Amino acid sequence: MTNVTIIGAQWGDEGKGKVVDWLASRADIVVRFQGGHNAGHTLVVGNQTYKLSLLPSGLVRGKLGIIGNGVVVDPSALLAEIERVSAQGLPVTPETLRIADNAPLILPLHAALDGAREAARGDRKIGTTGRGIGPAYEDKVARRAIRMCDLAEPNTLSAKLDELLLHHNTLLAGLGAPTFEKTALLENLLQLAPKLLPFMEPVWERLSAAKQAGKRILFEGAQAVMLDVDHGTYPFVTSSNTVSGTAAAGSGVGPGAVGRVLGIAKAYCTRVGSGPFPTELHDETGQLLGERGHEFGTVTGRKRRCGWFDAAMVRQAVKVGGIDGLALTKLDVLDGFAQLKICVGYEINGETHKHLPAGMAAQSAAKPVYEVLEGWSQSTRGARSWAELPAAAIKYVKRVEELVEAPVTLLSTSPERDDTILVQDPFAS
Ligand code: GDP
Ligand code: IMO
Ligand code: MG
Repeated sequence: MTNVTIIGAQWGDEGKGKVVDWLASRADIVVRFQGGHNAGHTLVVGNQTYKLSLLPSGLVRGKLGIIGNGVVVDPSALLAEIERVSAQGLPVTPETLRIADNAPLILPLHAALDGAREAARGDRKIGTTGRGIGPAYEDKVARRAIRMCDLAEPNTLSAKLDELLLHHNTLLAGLGAPTFEKTALLENLLQLAPKLLPFMEPVWERLSAAKQAGKRILFEGAQAVMLDVDHGTYPFVTSSNTVSGTAAAGSGVGPGAVGRVLGIAKAYCTRVGSGPFPTELHDETGQLLGERGHEFGTVTGRKRRCGWFDAAMVRQAVKVGGIDGLALTKLDVLDGFAQLKICVGYEINGETHKHLPAGMAAQSAAKPVYEVLEGWSQSTRGARSWAELPAAAIKYVKRVEELVEAPVTLLSTSPERDDTILVQDPFAS
């Protein structure tokens, strides 16, 4: 018996939500360990579509959801999401959701600073989700964050707000943005406190007890390895570590609890926001991938940039993310292309590279080196077994496995929960 950790292997939106929902039937607890409401995970179950940002995707299966200390929690966004999914017939209560007492909070001033900084960057903007994720993580590392537990201590809250406002108002004023006033912020937090505190606990204790009782834990990553603050295409990244090791530090368990690591990758590639994307297609093929894959951001509604599968990049994600097996999603979107391309390396200023170098200029100069594969005309949409796949599709998957140096252990062929082909159960150790 082992735990499973799910992480994105590209630039996000690989279908982590669908895979977590599918695997959650085999788990007892689902834990979010990093990111915040910048994440957007879409789950399609029959005629219901759930769009989750902060809530662990396992809640849809009735599994206990935990928001770990590594997550930055916007209290208003969380309560709004709880209300939204409750209206869809999925009640979220302190019995089904627990939140770490040491999780840092996102306040309205974080989103304001996120927006003001992006505006100041002009052409060099990161293209953030504008949710205040970066500024909230900065405050955590700078030791001035307001955390869940502070909601139970009004005096601590008041003193911490003074420190926070001194810092943020100075920055906001410097950027020419409106500043914040303490009374309104404090009143708002004190009003939200009684709604949030029933969800709060030291989750490490519950996770430790779950381990002793032999329960299965599924760790649900947000974003992806190429958006990791250390290993991604810096500075065009998010502000947390998205690799599998973060599941331990971000929820309060030892590294052994991470278990088997399943990386999720689309059979092609997308990116939202700015930054290098060597295989991006600006032609009608890119347009077609976007239309077929319905590539619009769950959180911001922005059109996702689309391109061919980048095996060199996913191979790197497999190595730095500790990925044991890959779930390849959206294979059906490739149906009907006469030819498919896979990037196997890069040419940068006349030299060939096996992986993307760390430098910004080198990354933006990287030209993909392609291998061309035969496409297939049959539909793979909704396939639930290998036998339903055309030979060329199987060949494509096998080539992906070889190039990324990891086995494909799961295939997804539509947004619908059960349109999934399991090759190897990641929970089976
Ligand atoms: P996440 O952020 O990794 O959870 O992914 P998102 O939910 O943001 O984006 C993935 C999108 O693709 C969602 O709209 C899913 O419903 C959809 N999706 C997931 N798997 C498949 C698949 O195999 N085929 C197709 N066509 N769509 C899929
Ligand atoms: P899921 O979990 C795709 C991107 C933003 C931006 C960069 C930094 O749905 O895969 P941030 O607001 O985090 O400071 O923005 O990261 N980004 C995502 N892109 N999927 C996500 O989450 C993302 N979360 C952040 O577009 O480029
Ligand atoms: Mg998403």
